[in-house]
Parts: sequence; C-alpha cells; structure tokens
Amino acid sequence: MKRIGILTGGGDAPGLNAVIRAAVKTAILQYECEVYGVLDGYDGFLKDNGVIPLSLKDVSGILPRGGTILGAANRGNPFARKIMQDGKEVTVDKSDELINSMMQSGLDALLVLGGDGTLRIAHELYQKGIPVIGVPKTIDNDIGGTEVTFGFDTALNIATEAIDRLHTTAEAHHRVMVLELMGREAGFITLHAGISGGADVILIPEIPFKFESVIDKIRQRIERGSLFSVLAVSEGAEPLGGTQVFPRGGDEMYVPRLGGIGHSVGEHIDKQGFETRVTVLGHLQRGGTPTAFDRWLATRYGAAAVRLAARGGFDRMVALRGGQITDVTLEEALAVPRRVDLNEDAVITARGMGISFGDE
Ligand code: F6P
Repeated sequence: MKRIGILTGGGDAPGLNAVIRAAVKTAILQYECEVYGVLDGYDGFLKDNGVIPLSLKDVSGILPRGGTILGAANRGNPFARKIMQDGKEVTVDKSDELINSMMQSGLDALLVLGGDGTLRIAHELYQKGIPVIGVPKTIDNDIGGTEVTFGFDTALNIATEAIDRLHTTAEAHHRVMVLELMGREAGFITLHAGISGGADVILIPEIPFKFESVIDKIRQRIERGSLFSVLAVSEGAEPLGGTQVFPRGGDEMYVPRLGGIGHSVGEHIDKQGFETRVTVLGHLQRGGTPTAFDRWLATRYGAAAVRLAARGGFDRMVALRGGQITDVTLEEALAVPRRVDLNEDAVITARGMGISFGDE
C-alpha cells in the first residue's frame, strides 16, 4: 500500500477531522504511505484539483475541530447527478467518469467516511473495482453492523444540555417545552437525550404516537402538581396513522428534508390550553467540537481503517462491537439499518419511570 485516499461524504458529524488525523498519522508514520484528501465527497474526483496531498502538518491541530477539513456534500451521488443539457436539467450517471478519475489517481485504498448513503455508493464502487474501506459516521447512529457511529455522542450531549436548559425555563413559567431533535428514521438521539435530560415525553420514529396520549401525560403531571412538561421529539416522529413532516421533498440527489413535527405537536398542545413553546435544535447538533468519546472513537476508527486497508480488507467497514474495534462487510453493515429496539432496556426503563412515548 503506497497511496491512500480519504473522503468525507454526506452531512458532516463531529469527529470527522479526528478520523482524518488518525488515518493520516497512521498511514504516514506506521505504513510510510502517501495520503490524499478528496474534497467535497465523491465530487472531488470529478473536478480539477479535487484530490490534494495530505501531510502531517495538514492534520496538526484538527483533533478538536468540528466539520471536516475536506468538505462534505450530501448531493454527491455519482450514479445520479443533475446537469444542464440543452437548457434542461437532466440526471446522468457519472460513475464511469468517477471510476476513471479514481483509477488515474492511483490510490491503493480509499477510506470513505460516511453514513448509509455514502457507504452504499462505496459498496457499488467496490463492485466496479475501487478498493474502498468504510468508516461509520452519523449523528443519527443508524448504521448497521456497529454499536456506535462517531458523531452520535456529541449530538447526544448537545441535545441533553438543551433539554436541561429548557427544563429550568419550563418550570419557571409553568409551560410545556417541545424540543425537536435530529434523527431521520432512528430515535437514538431523542431517546438517549430524553432519558439523560429527564424529558416527560419522548417521541421517536420507531413508535407512532397519539396526540391524545401526549395531552393525557401533560394533564396527569399537572394533576400531580408538576405544572410544566418537557417533550423531546425526533424530527422523524409521526402520529399514528399520519406521516412524517417534510417541508421540502427529495429527488435523485437530495433526500427529503424533515422538520416541523415539533411545531405540529406544540400547536396541538397549545390548542388544548397548555401554554407551549417549541425549539428546533437543528444543526447545532452537528456543529462544533466533538466530545472526548467521539474523539476517542474517531481516532480508533481512523487508525483501524488504515490497518484494514493494509491487510487488503476492502469492501469492509470498521465497527465497534463489545467495546472493541473490529470490521464487517459493507454488505452486512448496509443490510439492516440500526433502529431503537422497543424491547431494549432503555425503552423499558423509560416506560417504567413514567416517561410517555405517546403510544399508551
Ligand atoms: O443524517 C444526519 C442528519 O443530521 C439528519 O439527522 C438530518 O435529517 C439530516 O442529516 C439533515 O441534513 P441537512 O444538513 O442536509 O439538512
């Protein structure tokens, strides 16, 4: 292994720079490789000067930095790119061009730091001859084959702090506070932050909720003397028999944008006569410095990905299982996405402590 490439695809997540730093240091110091960074996800292979050399100096000081020094793009599907042709927007398959460019770059391995979509493209590229290694990234923690993705812990801590802060003002004003959190199809951020922050109601995509049940919980709390309530609501939560809320639809390039369920829940509660305020935490969950846990995990993932590449373990993804770094095939990682298991102890614990999931 002489030349190794790194790209960061999809939305960013705290810890990307920590992975890049660990991979660059390991590749140079342990394997004496040349390392190249691909700018803006897969797009870097399709534009001039989109692949740049990375030295030890380039990664110095980036461990605590949020974002990614390589840039990210969650529109970069080379199998379906939109271009203007004869004045019209058309979708074209740029994968052959991408593969040619990858081949020309002479990389012996390409580390792909990404979520579900980016890793799926990596798996397809492997089938066309590109030696890819996956590193699981997403604040949503929804990738199969691993217990944790990097970025999740940081988002969880930010969300928990937000719940703490809403708690004090909710209590002071005898109000209902609704906090909308990220998590497209998986409610891990909302469940973990909801429990860690002591939310009274947790609404997640895995458990369709009933508005009446949410209202009942708020009423019960008032009857017991708690004049305020805090709700943690995942952006992907949906009412029983209803649908998720999308302010913008998707297309071949972009997934549909979620958001708005917090306001919908807030309006229902307000209409029942309970003074309510809604906060949407949004991209604050993705920005800024990673927690110590995410730096620790990201560093181990980055170094392990390089070792895996050196062993020729392509089409595989580094993973955490039982506290140990291991690796799984990309096929296995992508087969079943991670979702909150309704029988897991966290859900049972929450229910036992009177937290409502809006379903009873
Ligand atoms: O998948 C990570 C995530 O943060 C989701 O939780 C959220 O729905 C989405 O990305 C937001 O993406 P964008 O940055 O494109 O708005």
